Amino acid sequence: MKILGIESTCDETAAAVVENGKEVLSSVISSQAKLHEKTGGVVPEVAARKHLPAIIPVIKEALAKADLKWEDIDAIAVSECPGLLGSLLIGCVTAQFLAFLKDKKLIPVNHVVGHLYSVYLENPNELKFPRLILTVSGGHNEIVLMKNHFDFEILGSTLDDSAGEAFDKAARLMGLGYPGGPQIQKAAELGKEGEFQLPRPMINQDSLNMSFSGLKTALLYEMKKKKISEDKISSLALEFQNAVVDVLVAKIKKAVEKNPEIKEVHLVGGVSANKVLRLKLKTLSETFNLPIYYPENISFCTDNAAMIASAAYFQTLEFPNKYSSETKLNIKPNSSIEDYFK
Ligand code: KG4
Ligand code: ZN
Repeated sequence: MKILGIESTCDETAAAVVENGKEVLSSVISSQAKLHEKTGGVVPEVAARKHLPAIIPVIKEALAKADLKWEDIDAIAVSECPGLLGSLLIGCVTAQFLAFLKDKKLIPVNHVVGHLYSVYLENPNELKFPRLILTVSGGHNEIVLMKNHFDFEILGSTLDDSAGEAFDKAARLMGLGYPGGPQIQKAAELGKEGEFQLPRPMINQDSLNMSFSGLKTALLYEMKKKKISEDKISSLALEFQNAVVDVLVAKIKKAVEKNPEIKEVHLVGGVSANKVLRLKLKTLSETFNLPIYYPENISFCTDNAAMIASAAYFQTLEFPNKYSSETKLNIKPNSSIEDYFK
């Protein structure tokens, strides 16, 4: 079964064709990152407008790269939640119209559920349940116990900002540009350890919840306390990155200890591209003798449509009669994965 996936929840316009949930025949991503660099973050209205001219060319390119015609496509999948309302609308209206016009099944997907499949795309024959998944990006930050395809439990989440949001806001404060995560990672490579000391919020609490907004405020105070020269910014970036990574790793460690039945750990979402986080989780993997996976291909860490098409494949297998060319979409800026299939 070949599914055309469409993704437009935030500032990436993406389309992909995936066969049987695992073989990526094409994956095209048009990113607005350069545009949002000017404002140091995504302006929702601007993002929505930019999806409009991009979405049809991206879909055409995904079909062309897969060397397929419309008649070869079995279904269309689209992210319907959570995300920025204006951005979601562009992807959803496009998918709905194409499904009706081309008479294809329309499969709505929760974007965060989509992220849970990004590691699967690269390792379709190895993965086991139950697995622990850290979804960490600009819009979400959760530790999920995935017992089976439609059986999730959120063990912990952020109480305020996501780690990606914290990276983006901190980078803006330090004048490092957007998106913040990659910029902070780059600056941190030149930094010196021990020059700054930032807090690790909630690191010693037994709860698997997290909080990153205080860390950003602590960074702001540090910057107000004394003028920080350009060469010291890299050390501050390093300390900020270490603080976020330490918290994420500590919470994963705690989650593994609390759930000894898990067979593997996945790291997904934009922040999973972070080199230091990947490295520290590898060490943790050796300590627990537990496989830890993250997308090797960075374009599967950040928002993409291949993961949406993959998740949709399992949905249509499980609920074969649920979808048609006129499936009603439930576009919601906020939506929990725990409630999604209820
Ligand atoms: O998954 P994604 O593309 O979009 C959302 O669904 O939010 O994630 C984007 C987020 C941004 O906050 C960006 O700063 C962060 O992922 N990010 C990183 C890195 N690459 C992207 N954070 C830390 N280190 C990175 N290398
Ligand atoms: Zn995402």
